[in-house]
Amino acid sequence: MQRSEIEAHPGHNIVIAKLYDTHDRLREITEKLDEMASELAARREGTKAVDRGFLQMAVAINNALQQVMHAHHGTEDEVIFPYLTANFGFDASKLDEEHGELMAAMPALQAALVPLLEPGGPPAGAIAAFAAEAKRLRERLAAHLANEEATAVVALLKLTSSDIQRMFGGRL
Ligand SMILES: [Fe+2]
Ligand SMILES: [Fe+2]
Repeated sequence: MQRSEIEAHPGHNIVIAKLYDTHDRLREITEKLDEMASELAARREGTKAVDRGFLQMAVAINNALQQVMHAHHGTEDEVIFPYLTANFGFDASKLDEEHGELMAAMPALQAALVPLLEPGGPPAGAIAAFAAEAKRLRERLAAHLANEEATAVVALLKLTSSDIQRMFGGRL
C-alpha cells in the first residue's frame, strides 16, 4: 500500500501518524549525515583543510540519530510489535532481525567518526571510511523503514481506539 492510501484509509490512526513522523525524521537525519560525509570527503580531497565546525555538526547529527533510533526501536520492540503479534498474529521476525543489524551498524558509524576528531586532523582514509559507513547506514535504514511501512504499518490499520489505549495505556 502506498503512503497516500494508508493516510486516506479509515483505519489510519495516531500510532501510524507518529510512526511516519519518526521515520521521516530518521530519513532526514541519515540523508543529512550521508550528504555531509560525502561533502567532507570531497572538500578534504580538494583542499586538505578540515573544517572543525563541519565536523562538530556531523557529531551533533550523529548524536541525534543515536537518540531517535534507540527510542524508536525501543517502542517498536517493546510495545508495537508484541501487541501486533499477540492480537493480530503479526510476524515481526524480519523486522526484529533488521533492528539487530541497524543497532550493530550504529557503533560502526560512531567508531568511524572518532578519528575525524583527532587534533592533528583525520588520518588518511578516515573520511572516506566515515562516508562509507554513513552511506551504508542510510541505505540499510531506508530499506528497513520501507519494509516496516509495507508490513507493520499496514497491520496497524486494524487497531481500534481501545487497542491504542491498551497498547500505550494513555501514554500517547
Ligand atoms: Fe523499525
Ligand atoms: Fe519504525
